[in-house]
Amino acid sequence: MTDRRVVLITGSTDGIGRAAARALAAAGAKVILHGRTKPKVDAALAKLAEELPGAELEGVSFDLASQTAVRKGAEQILARVPELHVLVNNAGIFADERTLTEDGIELTFAVNHVGPFLLTQLLVPRLEASATRVPSRVINVSSIAHTRGRLHLEDLSLAAGWTGYAAYAQSKLANVMHAAELAARHDPSKLLAYSLHPGVIGTKLLRQGFGPVQGSSPEVGARTIVRLAGGETADEPSGSYFSEGTVTQPAVAARDAAARAALWDASLRLAKL
Ligand SMILES: NC(=O)c1ccc[n+]([C@@H]2O[C@H](COP(=O)([O-])OP(=O)(O)OC[C@H]3O[C@@H](n4cnc5c(N)ncnc54)[C@H](OP(=O)(O)O)[C@@H]3O)[C@@H](O)[C@H]2O)c1
Repeated sequence: MTDRRVVLITGSTDGIGRAAARALAAAGAKVILHGRTKPKVDAALAKLAEELPGAELEGVSFDLASQTAVRKGAEQILARVPELHVLVNNAGIFADERTLTEDGIELTFAVNHVGPFLLTQLLVPRLEASATRVPSRVINVSSIAHTRGRLHLEDLSLAAGWTGYAAYAQSKLANVMHAAELAARHDPSKLLAYSLHPGVIGTKLLRQGFGPVQGSSPEVGARTIVRLAGGETADEPSGSYFSEGTVTQPAVAARDAAARAALWDASLRLAKL
């Protein structure tokens, strides 16, 4: 990276996000670590500062399940960093039961899609204003599970039939659609948007969702994020979906422009924008 890019990575206290934060900080980016709780963010900051003396690091904590918390968190970020070049929407969960957030949204959909959608909307003006030399970018960490997802536009909280996998796959489909729609709505000389499947990576989420599966290291899972965050120009068209580093056609549902627009409108309503 030839410039000091400012990168915010959600869910960078653990797993893929933490590995991406380390790699980007080592490459010279200023990294804003984000996590759900302050103690975990402080611990992750202290560890990274020890591993990478001289790295420019900041921390911010807020729960993506709470829209009030997301709004406050975005305010803090905007007050603390005058420039923001990359937002990596990485934080995610695989829930083991159906619960509703304080905003009345099913937890998986709230944490994996609505919270990140709201955060992105609040930060996009700053991202665009920071795109002086190279376009800024939003990178959504989705999953190959999105190909099994079905978007229940009339019942996004899955009241009529919830399983952990259906909720996860729907939210990961929303991540791909969100990036594609962002790409369609923004000038690519100012803002690029991508989504990706990081591979099967041995993390807390993998264990929670899929049991004792062997996965690759978080460093391997972070590779596409690091490449897209540090890129100069748009080597691949904005809106592209990457599977383990390779541009791949996403699921048919994600290529449906009318469905993407409907999800956008539903997300605006759910996020009270
Ligand atoms: N692992 C895989 O094989 C795999 C495959 C495909 C896609 N992905 C995607 O990769 C992304 C990262 O997952 P991972 O595997 O690295 O999982 P992970 O190790 O469990 O890390 C998830 C991160 O998100 C944070 N987070 C969870 N809920 C949050 C909330 N409500 N508010 C704020 N932060 C929250 C976690 O914080 P805490 O530590 O405090 O919980 C943690 O920092 C996810 O979007 C996931 O869907 C993973």
